[in-house]
Amino acid sequence: MDLQGIIEDIHATLSPRRGEGKVANYIPQLAHVDPEKFGMAVVTVDGDVHLVGDAEEPFSIQSISKVFTLTLALGKHGESIWKRVGREPSGSAFNSIVQLEQEGGIPRNPFINAGAIAITDLVLAGHTPKEAIGEIVRFLRYLADEDDIIIDQSVARSEQATGFRNFALANFMRSFGKLDHAAELVLGVYFHQCALAMSCRQLAKAGLFLANSGTNPLTGHRVVSHLRARRINALMLTCGHYDGSGDFAYRVGLPGKSGVGGGILAVAPGKASVAVWSPGLNDNGNSLIGSLALEMLAARTGWSVF
Ligand code: DON
Repeated sequence: MDLQGIIEDIHATLSPRRGEGKVANYIPQLAHVDPEKFGMAVVTVDGDVHLVGDAEEPFSIQSISKVFTLTLALGKHGESIWKRVGREPSGSAFNSIVQLEQEGGIPRNPFINAGAIAITDLVLAGHTPKEAIGEIVRFLRYLADEDDIIIDQSVARSEQATGFRNFALANFMRSFGKLDHAAELVLGVYFHQCALAMSCRQLAKAGLFLANSGTNPLTGHRVVSHLRARRINALMLTCGHYDGSGDFAYRVGLPGKSGVGGGILAVAPGKASVAVWSPGLNDNGNSLIGSLALEMLAARTGWSVF
C-alpha cells in the first residue's frame, strides 16, 4: 500500500478547505494560531514514518494529553482509578458540569474535562505539581523517543488566567470529596499537560504503543499490557470525541482522541498510529478537516476496528 501517496492525495484534496471551522478562542493564546495549518503523520507498526503538510510543526495537544495521563494514572494506581471516574460516554460537551452534580462528583469518563482533572489529581499523588509536570513531560519524551518535547508556557499561563470553568469543575468535585488536592494545584498540572507542544510526527510516535498491543515497536519499550492497550483504545473510541464520539466512530471507525488545538490522535490496531492537525473545529470542538482527513484515510486503507 502506498501510504505516502494516500496521505499526499488526502492533503491535496482537503487543502482548498483549510481554514474551515472555528479556531478555539476561549483559551486566548490558541486564538493566535494560523487556521490554514494542516499536517498529517502516519507511523506504522513496522516503523515506517509518512508525513505531509505541517506534520513537523509543534502545536498545542490540549485534550490529547488526557490519553497519556490516563496511561500514567493506570500505571500508578491500576484499576482503582475507576472509583474516581466512570467509563461511559457523556453525550455532553467536553466542559459540561451538569452530570457532575447529578452523579455525585464522579465524572462520566477520563476524557471529558472533569474526568481528566480527576485523573490528573491521581497523577499528582505524592508529588508536588512541578514534579508531576516533569513526570508527564518525561513520559511523553519516552513514548515518542524524542527529547525536544516541551510545554508552551504562554498557553499554560493563558489557560491558567481564563480557565474559570475548569476551576468550577475541580472545586465542584472537591466539594463531593472526590478530589484529593486543592483545585489550584491540580489545575496547575492539568493546564501544563494540555499546553504540551508536539508535532504530528511526535504525537503519532507517542501513540504507537496503542497500535502495537502496548509495546512501542520503534524502541521495544513495553508501555502497558496488551489488555490495557485494548482498554485505552476502547475508551478512545467511545469517549475520545465527547458528544461527537458516535459520529467519529461511524465515519472513521478507529479509536481517536481530539484536542481543541485542532489535533487528533487515531489508532489503527496492528497497523499504525496517525496524528492530524488542522486548527478549525466543528461544533463539538473537534478538528473539522482533521476528522475528514481521517475518514478519507480509513476509507482508502480499509483500516477499521469493525
Ligand atoms: O481544559 C480545556 O478546556 C482545554 N485545556 C482542553 C479541552 C480540549 O482540548 C477539548 N477537546 N477537544
